Amino acid sequence: MNLILFGPPGAGKGTQADFLNKKYGFAKLSTGDMLRAAVAAGSPLGLQAKEIMAKGQLVSDDIMIGLIRARIQEPDCTKGFILDGFPRTVAQAEALDQMLMAEKKRLDHVIELQVNDSELTQRICGRFSCKKCTAGYHDTFKRPLKDGVCDECGSTEFSRREDDNASTVAKRLDAYHAQTAPLLPYYDKENVLISIDGMADIEIVTRQIEEIIGGAGKLAAN
Ligand code: AP5
Ligand code: MG
Ligand code: ZN
Repeated sequence: MNLILFGPPGAGKGTQADFLNKKYGFAKLSTGDMLRAAVAAGSPLGLQAKEIMAKGQLVSDDIMIGLIRARIQEPDCTKGFILDGFPRTVAQAEALDQMLMAEKKRLDHVIELQVNDSELTQRICGRFSCKKCTAGYHDTFKRPLKDGVCDECGSTEFSRREDDNASTVAKRLDAYHAQTAPLLPYYDKENVLISIDGMADIEIVTRQIEEIIGGAGKLAAN
């Protein structure tokens, strides 16, 4: 099962991809996570990406396509993968189609999480994550079971993303509407697009996704 979780910043792509990765073992391919790891490592890519991400703009297609081309060939992708944050431009989508053809893989579903802009800003501005295991939380919508302690690993250290402030969020939303939303008709034409209500509670969104992946999810979990 190969999926794209599609949607604007804060739509819940990472939250749902983490869940599907844990439950079904599909590889989570998050280009945002890859770039943040490069920034943390201080690599040449990280140094280049840091400034662009802080401005809420998109990193170049060449770099992003190269990252995914390498990642998609790793062994954990054979069971299936979930793309989170890629593709974000028509050029990236076209390159992905070519890569999949070369690898004899196909895209089963592009699942669009529909959420309105004011809700997105609220979600992003309340987000934080565990410094040790990266588990994601929210000040209001997803607090750790015990305040200040990560549910997953027990760590007490958390961090917030540098681009999670109101002014950068506005720019990220502009980039989404101008450069990424045009992919919706692209995938609609390929007959793989399914749009779901991303405004619902996290567990309800999960259930909608599990209904879409249906039997394939059950098979992968066994
Ligand atoms: P990236 O890391 O991909 O960020 P994004 O697309 O802006 O998406 P987010 O990670 O902010 O949101 P999400 O949809 O994962 O939401 P989450 O599950 O965390 O990209 C960052 C930057 O990297 C880009 O701006 C760009 O510069 C660069 N980049 C990355 N990929 C690129 C590419 N392909 N090309 C070019 N540049 C690229 O949820 C958000 C919060 O809401 C959480 O706190 C969560 O707990 C909560 N929440 C989730 N679901 C719900 C719900 N149903 N109800 C209530 N709360 C919820
Ligand atoms: Mg994310
Ligand atoms: Zn943790």
